[in-house]
Amino acid sequence: MKRYVVAILGATGAVGSRLISELEQSKIPVATVRFLASKRSAGKKLHFKNREIIVEEATPDSFSGVDLVLSSAGGAVSKKLLPEAVKRGAVCVDNTSAFRMDDQVPLIVPGVNDDQLACHHGIIANPNCSTIQMVAALAPLHQRWGLEQIIVSTYQAVSGAGQSAWNEMLQQAQARLNGEEGKANILPTASDKKHYPLAFNLLPQIDVFEDDGYSHEEWKMIHETKKILFNDQDSSRAKVTATCVRVPVEIGHGESIYFSLEDKSATVAEIRKEIAQAPGLVLQDNPQEQLYPQPLSAAGKKETFVGRIREDLENAGAFQMWVVADNLLRGAASNTVEIAEELVKKDLVKVPNN
Ligand code: A2P
Repeated sequence: MKRYVVAILGATGAVGSRLISELEQSKIPVATVRFLASKRSAGKKLHFKNREIIVEEATPDSFSGVDLVLSSAGGAVSKKLLPEAVKRGAVCVDNTSAFRMDDQVPLIVPGVNDDQLACHHGIIANPNCSTIQMVAALAPLHQRWGLEQIIVSTYQAVSGAGQSAWNEMLQQAQARLNGEEGKANILPTASDKKHYPLAFNLLPQIDVFEDDGYSHEEWKMIHETKKILFNDQDSSRAKVTATCVRVPVEIGHGESIYFSLEDKSATVAEIRKEIAQAPGLVLQDNPQEQLYPQPLSAAGKKETFVGRIREDLENAGAFQMWVVADNLLRGAASNTVEIAEELVKKDLVKVPNN
């Protein structure tokens, strides 16, 4: 059986630590692993299947002899290093937005569009965490009744902004409980001018703003959804709009999704049945028993949880639902490792000659 040399780029980060544990549990036959991060972490010790692995500084030559790269070290690092990894023969599954809109790069949610994997050129993109859970929940409904419109509002956990943003929010919360003022240096986004506290607050900004007033996170949700569902990032087959909000939750994004279907005959009972039957989705929908998805109970799980399904009482064929998933697992590490498993299964861990 072929065994693979696997590198995890960003191994010391919030998603990186989950990539390590997902890879440990995966079906991928691993020959050796390399853990890569910034110079700051070089020499740090991490573990893989009870073996100690020393973290190395990521450089182009770190990828010599590597078959498969699982990457989550930020867009700038991916842009710089992944083409170098591909040049050295490695196939890369990237968690950042660096290559998602590139026509040569498949954007994959396993179970939804993994038929696109076969046309990769060395890099495969993992969608944004908030896109993955929405598309996972909508895909079976789209397949049966056709999506016409999606209006989504997100409630996104701080861990999606990385470990240092997560630490910052915890420090703000502690300061507030001590009657002190917490410091805000990172959120809503490190690259923008102003910073605000997230603890006991809501920030309707994730990433920077575009000229049209949408945040880049909202832009990503719109165009990634179209690329995944219609294989065209600008498709007009369904209308998609989004409002993305950072909330003071540690792990687990919540999404209020309003959607309308082309086929107006769908009922709430049929939608519940489709969700309950779909692999990777868990129906938690019983208002009488106060059963609905929550971030605390979704954290640490790989599934996408769906509840509060109800019809729009004034528009036929339109519905609302509430979808929650662990953004670090379902929205990142599990999706990445599932993509890698598909690549292995289909014998696609090779860079095609272009
Ligand atoms: P490090 O821990 O050495 O900074 P998070 O998303 O939780 O913020 O994690 C980001 C990950 O990306 C970390 O593993 C971090 O390593 C890594 N990283 C940041 N900058 C670089 C870089 N220039 N080269 C390689 N890895 C980097």
